[in-house]
Amino acid sequence: MPIATPLTELLGIRHPILSAPMDTIAGSRLTRAVSEAGGFGILGGGYGDRVRLQTEAVELKGFASFGIGFITWSLAKQPELLDIALDARPQAIMLSFGDPSPFAPRIAASGARLICQVQSEDMAKQALDAGAEILIAQGTEAGGHGASRTTVDIVP
Ligand SMILES: Cc1cc2nc3c(=O)[nH]c(=O)nc-3n(C[C@H](O)[C@H](O)[C@H](O)COP(=O)(O)O)c2cc1C
Repeated sequence: MPIATPLTELLGIRHPILSAPMDTIAGSRLTRAVSEAGGFGILGGGYGDRVRLQTEAVELKGFASFGIGFITWSLAKQPELLDIALDARPQAIMLSFGDPSPFAPRIAASGARLICQVQSEDMAKQALDAGAEILIAQGTEAGGHGASRTTVDIVP
């Protein structure tokens, strides 16, 4: 049975489940499969492999419901990768690990929503100031990410 939440309404999805943009593991097949099952699949932009991003993003171009995620500090080294991502017309861009504000205006101009994965209150405030509509609170359970705080510490 579908569960309606502000997240499902915002993204227009049936189930409040997002797949993480896991580096090279979350490719277009996984992204599409999650979205087709009623969640929201997010393609991994990872550490900025341009050829892989182009290849995988083209597979999703025009698909009705998906996102593309980047590691923010890595994207800052190759900001043009955001253009490749936006050209596929994702409904959302997810940014993790860094200041999203340099990228937020281009994301907003494209019509995509901004999702930020944050590891502290300060990062949450920074993301909201940049216009993020969805925050993901990441604790240390996330494979060692999470800035030494557990999810139950950071969510409140
Ligand atoms: C294999 C693997 C690769 C990951 N790569 C990324 C990544 O490239 N970018 C990112 O923002 N998060 C990455 N993550 C972290 C996830 O976004 C997420 O924080 C983590 O999987 C915890 O969520 P979960 O409990 O739903 O799995 C990765 C996680 C895994 C397991």
